[in-house]
Parts: sequence; C-alpha cells; structure tokens
Amino acid sequence: MKKSIGKVNAAFPTPIVVVGAMCDGKPCWFEVAWVGIGDAGVVTLSVTSTHKTCDGIRAEKKLSINLLDEALIPRADYVGVVSGHKVDKSGVFAWSAGSTGVPLVDDAPVSMECSLLDIYDANGCYLLICKVENTWAREELLTPQGKLDYEVFKPVLFEPGFRYLRTGDVICRCAEAWKEYAAEGLKKD
Ligand SMILES: Cc1cc2nc3c(=O)[nH]c(=O)nc-3n(C[C@H](O)[C@H](O)[C@H](O)COP(=O)(O)O)c2cc1C
Repeated sequence: MKKSIGKVNAAFPTPIVVVGAMCDGKPCWFEVAWVGIGDAGVVTLSVTSTHKTCDGIRAEKKLSINLLDEALIPRADYVGVVSGHKVDKSGVFAWSAGSTGVPLVDDAPVSMECSLLDIYDANGCYLLICKVENTWAREELLTPQGKLDYEVFKPVLFEPGFRYLRTGDVICRCAEAWKEYAAEGLKKD
C-alpha cells in the first residue's frame, strides 16, 4: 500500500552539472542539481539569482553545462559550497573556451555550450532556459555512429537526500517494452 508523503517533488535523480560562465574576464563555476529538459535542444536550470555565476550568465547570455564523472566530484562539490562572491574559483578547473566563448571544463567527459534563451523569474529563483549550441564529448564515450553511449558514459546523478549516485544498467529498449505487454494479451492504448 502507498501512503501520501506530502508535496514532495519526487522527479529525481537528475544529472549533477557544473555550470560555467565568464564573469569579468574570468570563468565562474557553480554546481547545479536542478536540471531539466525543455525540448530536444533545450535544457532548464533552476538557480538562485544571487549566485555570482548568474551575474556572468545574465551579462553574457551564454553558459556551459558540464556533466561529471566520479573523478570530478570533489571539485564540483567545492564550487557548489563556496561562492565566487567570497573566493576566486576561476582556477578550480583547467578550462578552454568553446566555439561560443563559454568556459568549458577540460576534464568533464561531456560539455554543452548554451545560449540563454530566457529567464523565468519565480521570486528570486531563476529558471534559465538554455539552448544547446554545441556539445563536446570524449571520443571513447561515443557509439560508432557518433552518439553518446550511456552504457559507457556514466554521468553522476544527484538525489535530494543530498548524495551523488551512479547510473545503473540498461533494462531494455524504449518503445519496444510494450510488446511484452501486448504479448500478454492486453492492448496498447
Ligand atoms: C550538490 C549541490 C547541488 C546544488 N544545486 C544547485 C542548484 O540546482 N541550483 C542552485 O542555484 N544552486 C545549487 N547549488 C548551490 C550552488 O552551487 C552554490 O551556492 C555555489 O556556491 C554558488 O556559487 P557562485 O555564487 O560562485 O555562483 C548546489 C550545491 C550543491 C553542493
């Protein structure tokens, strides 16, 4: 039997990312867990508007979204607990400028360069609507067809008990599992 646990947002785990933007000529980085999909080429980030990195995102209208492997967790965690308002975090990651000029974490397995399409302001909490302009991935994480292979690429996830998780195994293919249901004599809607 299920029981109500209140108004809990249970739509987790999400990928945990390091977001980068140029702030006054130097990179700013912070960690973001509240990551969503807006459309095939659109990522949403829910962020506190007063974060230092948000100053750079607002000014430049572009940012990077860097997915993590386990080796990056300590540094990602650091940029998630220390603010650029107090400490210069520009040297935490080796970085390169992407084709749009955003700072990309060199050690990140996958990085997306994004433009800022819009900001939805919800009482000091910003929903950043980010359009993916260019994506970089380590070659060994790609299928022979050049797609990201999530059996090899294991992005670190976040769960709201404030822990980092690993991704798991592939269960089966989407839009094919229904055949098992149909085979049991039931109809697909
Ligand atoms: C695990 C973790 C997840 C976080 N997720 C978010 C998030 O989704 N949105 C957000 O605005 N801040 C999030 N933070 C907090 C910011 O990363 C943190 O306040 C950071 O120091 C802001 O840096 P800045 O002021 O230099 O931009 C998270 C922190 C941690 C440790």
